[in-house]
Amino acid sequence: MDYTKCTNLFTLLIIPWFLFAEVVTATDTINTSQFIKDNETITSTDGNFTLGFFTPQNSTNRYVGIWWQPKFTVIWVANRNQPLNDSSGVVSISEGGNLVVLNGQNQVIWSTNVSNVGSNSTSKLLDSGNLVLQDSSSGRTIWESFQHPSNVLLPNMKISTNKATGEKVKQTSWKSPSDPSTGSFSLSVESLGVPEVFIWKETRPFWRTGPWNGKAFTGLPYMKKFYIEGIHVGDDGEGNVEFLFSGVEEIGFIIYILNSTGNCEERWWNGEKKEWVVSWNSHQFECDVYGVCGPFAVCNSQSSPTCSCLKGFEPRNKEEWNRQNWTSGCFRRTPLKCERTSNQNKSADYTEDGFLELKMVKVPDFSDGSALRLQPDMCRSRCLENCSCIAYSYDADIGCMSWTENLMDIQKFSNGGLDLHVRVAYTELDKERNRTIITIVTETIGATLIVICAYIMWRRISTRLGAASAEYMNDYVFGDLSQVKVQELLTFNLEKLVTATNEFHPSNKLGQGGFGPVYKGQLHDGREIAVKRLSRASGQGLEEFMNEVVVISKLQHRNLVRLLGCCIEGEQKMLIYEYMPNKSLDTYIFDPSKDKILHWKKRFSIIEGVARGMLYLHRDSRLKIIHRDLKASNILLDAELNPKISDFGMARIFGGNEDEANTNRIVGTYGYMSPEYAIQGLLSEKSDVFSFGVLLLEIVSGRRNSSFYEENCLTLLGFAWIQWQEDNIPSLIDPGIYDPNLHKDI
Ligand SMILES: *[C@@H]1O[C@H](CO)[C@@H](O)[C@H](O)[C@H]1NC(C)=O
Ligand SMILES: *[C@@H]1O[C@H](CO)[C@@H](O)[C@H](O)[C@H]1NC(C)=O
Ligand SMILES: *[C@@H]1O[C@H](CO)[C@@H](O)[C@H](O)[C@H]1NC(C)=O
Ligand SMILES: *[C@@H]1O[C@H](CO)[C@@H](O)[C@H](O)[C@H]1NC(C)=O
Ligand SMILES: *[C@@H]1O[C@H](CO)[C@@H](O)[C@H](O)[C@H]1NC(C)=O
Ligand SMILES: *[C@@H]1O[C@H](CO)[C@@H](O)[C@H](O)[C@H]1NC(C)=O
Ligand SMILES: *[C@@H]1O[C@H](CO)[C@@H](O)[C@H](O)[C@H]1NC(C)=O
Ligand SMILES: *[C@@H]1O[C@H](CO)[C@@H](O)[C@H](O)[C@H]1NC(C)=O
Ligand SMILES: *[C@@H]1O[C@H](CO)[C@@H](O)[C@H](O)[C@H]1NC(C)=O
Ligand SMILES: *[C@@H]1O[C@H](CO)[C@@H](O)[C@H](O)[C@H]1NC(C)=O
Ligand SMILES: *[C@@H]1O[C@H](CO)[C@@H](O)[C@H](O)[C@H]1NC(C)=O
Ligand SMILES: *[C@@H]1O[C@H](CO)[C@@H](O)[C@H](O)[C@H]1NC(C)=O
Repeated sequence: MDYTKCTNLFTLLIIPWFLFAEVVTATDTINTSQFIKDNETITSTDGNFTLGFFTPQNSTNRYVGIWWQPKFTVIWVANRNQPLNDSSGVVSISEGGNLVVLNGQNQVIWSTNVSNVGSNSTSKLLDSGNLVLQDSSSGRTIWESFQHPSNVLLPNMKISTNKATGEKVKQTSWKSPSDPSTGSFSLSVESLGVPEVFIWKETRPFWRTGPWNGKAFTGLPYMKKFYIEGIHVGDDGEGNVEFLFSGVEEIGFIIYILNSTGNCEERWWNGEKKEWVVSWNSHQFECDVYGVCGPFAVCNSQSSPTCSCLKGFEPRNKEEWNRQNWTSGCFRRTPLKCERTSNQNKSADYTEDGFLELKMVKVPDFSDGSALRLQPDMCRSRCLENCSCIAYSYDADIGCMSWTENLMDIQKFSNGGLDLHVRVAYTELDKERNRTIITIVTETIGATLIVICAYIMWRRISTRLGAASAEYMNDYVFGDLSQVKVQELLTFNLEKLVTATNEFHPSNKLGQGGFGPVYKGQLHDGREIAVKRLSRASGQGLEEFMNEVVVISKLQHRNLVRLLGCCIEGEQKMLIYEYMPNKSLDTYIFDPSKDKILHWKKRFSIIEGVARGMLYLHRDSRLKIIHRDLKASNILLDAELNPKISDFGMARIFGGNEDEANTNRIVGTYGYMSPEYAIQGLLSEKSDVFSFGVLLLEIVSGRRNSSFYEENCLTLLGFAWIQWQEDNIPSLIDPGIYDPNLHKDI
């Protein structure tokens, strides 16, 4: 709407009847002789902020508010809880000097409500978006809208809490996008101990940032450093803890909106496109909801199930826990020393408790009192001395933090965060030590057995020993898998799969993998699956089959395809995977007609996803795994085009400190194999990195390594190398995805 035009028209028409007062035109102030009516506005001098009347979408009420002019965005509402039902409202300075909103009957429905204001005051809308009420004679600020935030935090607007009185300046959500009245959510900074920002749902915590260490929020490791730079948390010198962010020049204009569902959105103003971009929000992961896992549990968005008890703790209610209702949390399995000795039990032992370390986490809520500046090793002994201390953590910028009550809202990260030390009875420490020894031993023995048995059985089956040995194998496989603790791995019966895939009908065939065809199927419950049927003819069969079952059943990562189960009946061997509706990456990147779907940003996120999956295989999983056959057709895409690495038939498991191995059987795909592996059989994770490099060039260039022809260069790699040396990288990029804006720096 064009407010200035309306105002001018209004001026022409109305002036004769309003001789006692001037009508506001393009001004930024309201004074005792000036007021604004429903159709009028005042605007800050730079023209970015406007105060006036507005109606939210899907509402009939009128509200007085301030909005961001370049794109109508309400940033503050005066009478949010006292709406006007018609357009007869007026904003003016009352006789007492307060800024007021009057309805048609001249009743005050909203007021700045400051006592002892001189009768001569003016209200001004500043360029920062702050509406201030000033004493005209002294220029003293009596009231400001920045002290009474609505749901938007602007640069330099302070959220604060008084340490002595607990009085808060907080951000409060709207009830709904069409109702600005005070909603259930509020955002405030807490002054207990180390400062921390919270979102509250009524009186209960809903989200938190983790303690502020003077540079960053320790519980938001994924927030970009860029944004953190503008944030200030700390003492304001007047007994308040404050939180504010200032503009950072390289970033431009950003605001934080607490929306009606309790999500804090960071919006960045894209000045070129003239639109808001949500550049971050508080609830990106399941674990971002406060305490989803209950007390004494850890939440990990990357793992499944999401919640797990701390070591030495057990679910309070096993049945609920197994149904993924985590609310009751966990409890301590073995009492601590203090509890044991205080029972007056003569046979009680006095062995000292110990600590189990939890690396890279958002530390629990409400550490005890203020942090102590001590040497790191002092944290431990101080905690041990005091019976009520159940955990501690150390940060170089904060010092020692300790906890005495329920450990709530611990979140596991893959980088960043702090290390938490949880106090447990000494027996738990032993169990922990013994358990790791046991697992390592059993796993080593298990892996050796698998290889030996698989080899023997492969020989037997290839000499057609028949059904008897197949049955033996059946027992063997599941005997071993139960040792691997794969409760979720299902055995599907053949009949069910035959029905699901419509008797392996050719129309359901998705493709041909290395060891046999893959079919699409649909189970009774409607779930879609992909069934890989190992061909009887393929000589290799069993060894790789076993390998794949064992390897992949141990892996859990969002960028690895999930194995749902397997089926072994007679000579039939099948693997059942989650179904990937978008097939494999090679069907996209080499097809110019699909460039629009797989534009550069998407390709970039696919590259990132594959890299994450590989990092997990090489570093983060319990076993070190070399995939050995990474290529475009082995990267599957889910419904949102997220990449998932598949086909572990050739993967090789490495022991903890085994780094390189000589293989006598070279497997893989030509064009993706590293020279040292193809020629000398030298295998290490570098082999996968080489394949990844080839894949990367294929994704960027949209051309196949295997069928690449260019004058003077034999392969895609050779071509890329020459372009690189000639500093001519853009010619490598697929013209269909080339974006001069994104690629201008290369
Ligand atoms: C506001 O302005 C519009 C257009 O100029 C006019 O139609 C309308 O009557 C005005 N309303 C009031 C209350 O003055
Ligand atoms: C109110 O503001 C107008 C324009 O800014 C000015 O002309 C007028 O003198 C002011 N009145 C008082 C009482 O300050
Ligand atoms: C209005 O805001 C935009 C975005 O922050 C800024 O670039 C511009 O300078 C502002 N306008 C004025 C007149 O200050
Ligand atoms: C307004 O109502 C329409 C239709 O019911 C709906 O699509 C739209 O999302 C609503 N807008 C808001 C802000 O609630
Ligand atoms: C608007 O509200 C006033 C009181 O605030 C009431 O007297 C009036 O009847 C209402 N008008 C409508 C149209 O609801
Ligand atoms: C205004 O403030 C007084 C005390 O300062 C309080 O009693 C009264 O309820 C307030 N009125 C409004 C409308 O907030
Ligand atoms: C109010 O303050 C303004 C600016 O200081 C001054 O010009 C004006 O005379 C004052 N009016 C009254 C009634 O005191
Ligand atoms: C709140 O913000 C989140 C994250 O941007 C968004 O998904 C959600 O739809 C928003 N809710 C409302 C009611 O606008
Ligand atoms: C989860 O368990 C709690 C406590 O036992 C219960 O109140 C709640 O209704 C359960 N929630 C669901 C979704 O079953
Ligand atoms: C003392 O502890 C032992 C072992 O922990 C237990 O069997 C016994 O019942 C306890 N006795 C009392 C009086 O608590
Ligand atoms: C133990 O810690 C609690 C909580 O911090 C504190 O109140 C108590 O004084 C401490 N006790 C000793 C002996 O230091
Ligand atoms: C753990 O192993 C140690 C020896 O390594 C043994 O003394 C201890 O009893 C074991 N503890 C448990 C709980 O098995």
